[in-house]
Amino acid sequence: MRVVYLNPCGPMGGAEMSLLDLMASVRAAEPSWQLALVLGEDGPLAEKAKAAVVQTIVAPFPRALARLGDSGSGPARALWSALRAAFGTIRYASKLRRILAELQPDILHTNGFKMHVLAAWARPENAPLIWHVRDYASTRSLMRRLLRLSAGRCSVAIGNSLSVATDIQKVCPQLETLCVYNAIDLKRYSPLGEKMDLDALSGLAPAPAGTVRVGLAATLAHWKGHAVFLRALARLPQDLPYRAYVIGGALYQTANSQRTLDELRALAAALGIADKVGFTGYIADTSGAIRALDVLVHASTQPEPFGRVIAEGMACGRAVICSAAGGAIELIEEGRNALTHPPGDHETLAARIADLVRDPELRARLGRAGRITAERRFERSRLAEEVIPLYLRLTGHLAPQTEPRLAATR
Ligand code: GLC
Repeated sequence: MRVVYLNPCGPMGGAEMSLLDLMASVRAAEPSWQLALVLGEDGPLAEKAKAAVVQTIVAPFPRALARLGDSGSGPARALWSALRAAFGTIRYASKLRRILAELQPDILHTNGFKMHVLAAWARPENAPLIWHVRDYASTRSLMRRLLRLSAGRCSVAIGNSLSVATDIQKVCPQLETLCVYNAIDLKRYSPLGEKMDLDALSGLAPAPAGTVRVGLAATLAHWKGHAVFLRALARLPQDLPYRAYVIGGALYQTANSQRTLDELRALAAALGIADKVGFTGYIADTSGAIRALDVLVHASTQPEPFGRVIAEGMACGRAVICSAAGGAIELIEEGRNALTHPPGDHETLAARIADLVRDPELRARLGRAGRITAERRFERSRLAEEVIPLYLRLTGHLAPQTEPRLAATR
């Protein structure tokens, strides 16, 4: 069996970490299979995939295609950038068609909207295509249309949560759609292991003993809620013994999709909390950073498709506060293994942070329950158990009725 994965970006965001986990899981379950990865951009994912014994081919996107993005932009602007990218994209699709023809895949498995569409048109006719959808398509004016146009050339869509699977069903009603929750490396994301020195990383003096560390770990995408987090901190009583951290940096090339750390520093200063917040910048292995926290905050202002960091925080036995919308709420049970706040509601978030800073027992209880949940639901070997039967079915090696039941949306 030869499975070819395709991903637009090279840096390690949540979608890339999840793809790497998927490939590692399939690799461990089927050591003799040939796995290949085609990347639209060079970056750390290429090296990591090679280390996971995956043949890796970098075929860089033309610049206009790399920067093309319609999240949050209106239809007119999206159409304009699409037109600008069109010529290069058509040439790129022919190049991809040649690469795929040479690789002779039995299965194509794409990660990311641009690759879903490109692979639909560049795939060898006999290779079934699986779209692994990790974001909401219905809110993307351009992608929504392109996916609908291409859906007939795709065999199955996988959503990273039921919420995302339901969304893709709305956009492509004819397409068979399944849900496969992400999973993570539970040995790396564990309560045991070294803790990073977040103060040193942020250029701050060591915090006094007894300080409770509260952090938001995310890419700098606008909707990840950094401003909500900072506004919540600004509402906390001055004498509350906490220190906060913004963990992460700008990652992706897509135009206008991210904040800058300088903007966030300026906001912290304007809110009068500059001395309470450290900015670590990008961290390649977040497990040691998450372990160094007492409270992990997830504050996305829009429904979070899955929210890998929530699973990572629970797996590290941290107390997690999560923004209650989208796939994120499918991962947790309010009050038992995490606390929640409504998206964008900095006042409620402040109250939750204050509760946790004051109550070590509550933190410990949530952390223990979180680890148990992670072991039950996010063990990485599950990914292979879910996708391999699908690969076998699509290539005619397994009758549909023998495939373990996945959570289908219909
Ligand atoms: C995307 C989603 C995020 C999810 C990740 C992995 O980055 O925005 O919610 O955790 O993919 O599936």
